[in-house]
Amino acid sequence: MILIDGKKTAAEIKQEIAAEVADMTAQGLRAPHLVAILVGHDGGSETYVANKVKACGECGFKSTLIRFEDDVTQERLLEEIHKLNEDPEVDGFIVQLPLPRHIDEQAVIREVSPAKDVDGFHPVNVGCMSVGLPCFLPATPAGIMQLLKRYSVPTKGKHAVVLGRSNIVGKPMASLLMQKSDPGNCTVTVCHSSTPDIKEICRNADIIVAALGQPGFVTEDMVKEGAVIIDVGTTRVADSTRKSGWRLRGDVDFENVAQKCSYITPVPGGVGPMTICSLMINTLKARKENPHK
Ligand code: GUN
Repeated sequence: MILIDGKKTAAEIKQEIAAEVADMTAQGLRAPHLVAILVGHDGGSETYVANKVKACGECGFKSTLIRFEDDVTQERLLEEIHKLNEDPEVDGFIVQLPLPRHIDEQAVIREVSPAKDVDGFHPVNVGCMSVGLPCFLPATPAGIMQLLKRYSVPTKGKHAVVLGRSNIVGKPMASLLMQKSDPGNCTVTVCHSSTPDIKEICRNADIIVAALGQPGFVTEDMVKEGAVIIDVGTTRVADSTRKSGWRLRGDVDFENVAQKCSYITPVPGGVGPMTICSLMINTLKARKENPHK
């Protein structure tokens, strides 16, 4: 069994990016600039955004955090987005999700200029991804594709089972895995809450990408000998031995499943660090393509 080390791979990629940014700035060019919008004080979102800002520092990027309270109106949020779309010194920006219930997420995503949509959530980027045109890829599936590539995991002709159909992970993951590319060329099955016989479908999988948000969902009896297991789950579960009182748990019963598979990602230290890395890759691309030098 090979443990896929997302933390190490992410550190390598960030070093590669930092070297490229150092070259840019040595030539007198502006460093890439990422802006993050954070609404409210959700613990998970606070941590994610803090980690994104930290990663910007490691890559030599400029970063700006714009905060709004929970009661911000959709109109005010859209006004900020329009300002960022027009700001020549902002290469890319993200609006951290989820948003409060009174705000229509899709309406917000639609207002972000596709050229600055480093999350890859705008329908233009989703469409380009689906037909294989250049675009910003969503961070989590792009990070998983990087791991498959850097660990030379064979994917051509394999049966990949994606558990979960979210717009952020499941759907784009299925799209990338089926793409005529390397990694890619998989036969893909997407399972969700209305799928009967998930266990049986998983037993036929060469690759399982678990993105359900249900801790320990994938058990040993669901996994074929030699399968590749990618765990996207990051649920906080109570842990009285930790100072924080919680720890992250993935969607896979790691202890037992690891014995059976050829490759597996741990939680934490697997997919998570790669997600932020993809955002850095997208921001560097946005900087290079920004017509405002
Ligand atoms: N919430 C959970 N994942 C993401 C992500 O990749 N981007 C944003 N903006 N919000 C998220």
